[in-house]
Amino acid sequence: MIVGPLRSLSARVPGAVRRIVLTMKPQVVFVLGGPGAGKGTQCAKIVEHYGYTHLSAGDLLREERGRPDSKSGQIIDSYIKEGKIVPVEITINLLRKAMEKTMMANENKFRFLIDGFPRNQDNLQGWTREMDGKADVKFVLFFDCDNEVCVGRCLERGKSSGRSDDNRESLVKRIQTYLQCTRPIIEQYEQQGKVRTIDASRSVDEVFDSVKKVLDKEG
Ligand code: ADP
Ligand code: C5P
Ligand code: MG
Repeated sequence: MIVGPLRSLSARVPGAVRRIVLTMKPQVVFVLGGPGAGKGTQCAKIVEHYGYTHLSAGDLLREERGRPDSKSGQIIDSYIKEGKIVPVEITINLLRKAMEKTMMANENKFRFLIDGFPRNQDNLQGWTREMDGKADVKFVLFFDCDNEVCVGRCLERGKSSGRSDDNRESLVKRIQTYLQCTRPIIEQYEQQGKVRTIDASRSVDEVFDSVKKVLDKEG
């Protein structure tokens, strides 16, 4: 039987793994910033140096889109190309399953970097509905980067990423979504004193030096 904060989530997990006892409440850092701000790059470095598991909402959505039996594949595909935010019911399920899987495999892995989420009010409401009381949001790591720099990085990444949205047309829409939908979420957390802002327009190593200062102070 599973006890602890993920008990109700784990009720949906099939039989064999149910005996694991999850005692720790997931500790979450939301990682936000414009497209190409360097969220994924910095999360990979954080994982190397600190005991966090990196879950990228975008990566999880792309993985789900690629699953032949996925019921949401087509809807995810169209939202991603349009730079729009996929309905939270889809995304929260993927995040929750990934968190469960991580903690089932190792109950000490309860620290998560949730990258690219919550990106709009719908994401935030979905999180609150499903995860309030079941996970603690410690703070938001905000990679602040000029839009032009972000676009330039994504276009450069597009030369090899194979991503359907690393092109100018999608990027105009992604930046618009970021400014209209995601910035207000960051501002909401800012008002709660929960945002740690990093100047992400510098080199990867300079950015990471600032990230380390935040994490060394806050865990
Ligand atoms: P995000 O996850 O925020 O979209 P990525 O980490 O995937 O951003 O980075 C986008 C692109 O920019 C990648 O090709 C990456 O190698 C590059 N990149 C990341 N951080 C920097 C940086 N500080 N300076 C220059 N290029 C960077
Ligand atoms: O974070 P990333 O750049 O990988 O996200 C790519 C796309 O995935 C977004 O532009 C959006 O269409 C989709 N996405 C989403 N909801 C999230 C995160 C990503 O719909 N929370
Ligand atoms: Mg990314």
